[in-house]
Amino acid sequence: MGALTTLKRIIILISGNGSNLQALINAKLPMQITAVISNNPNVYGLQRAQNAGIPIICEPFQSHTSAEHYEHTLLNILTQQQPDFIILAGFMRTLGPSIVRKFYGQIINLHPSLLPAYPGMHTHERVLAAGETWHGATVHFVNEQLDSGPIISQARFKVCKQDTIDTLKEKTQKLEHYLYPQAVSWLLQERLQLINNQVLLDHIPLPKTGKKQSSIQAASQNP
Ligand code: GRF
Repeated sequence: MGALTTLKRIIILISGNGSNLQALINAKLPMQITAVISNNPNVYGLQRAQNAGIPIICEPFQSHTSAEHYEHTLLNILTQQQPDFIILAGFMRTLGPSIVRKFYGQIINLHPSLLPAYPGMHTHERVLAAGETWHGATVHFVNEQLDSGPIISQARFKVCKQDTIDTLKEKTQKLEHYLYPQAVSWLLQERLQLINNQVLLDHIPLPKTGKKQSSIQAASQNP
């Protein structure tokens, strides 16, 4: 008789449409999504979770008296869930230092730019305005600074003259829907480690340069 394997416990945090949540659900990875947490009760991502039979938790920021109170409540919720990993999939709030410290090395985020370029909001607009040649998405471990944790993987495409904010968003999301499930599967298989701010894949340190790592390239004309 083989030993029973326990599925890793995953929490996914969202704030919006949840297309990356859907990509993770569709990937049918061997994991138990114990909860999808949203800070907004009216987002389609929550419907996607319910359609997949995943418990949802809604914790609006507005119902708290301060950022510290919100952080404390979220920390309690996350702790009760006993997650192996916390996956940020379009969660539009920073987590706060107590959460990042408690779950350091267990939280990953997906960002719509080739970090370290363009942390923060409105990445597609900024990439277009700067006339960049390349654009894409980054998966990284979360640290206490916004969008600056150690990079796990990136996917990129070439920006073309006809691109608009909408086409950049569409192309970026198309890559994200492959990139994120791949990174999560590495986590589940315990192939990724974070030691002293250094990411290791299969015990081999990934370069720290912030240049393309484990990158999936996609020409912009690809369907
Ligand atoms: C994604 O583009 C991700 O890079 C960013 O937020 C967006 C979320 O999209 N962090 P969705 O809600 O998964 O469709």
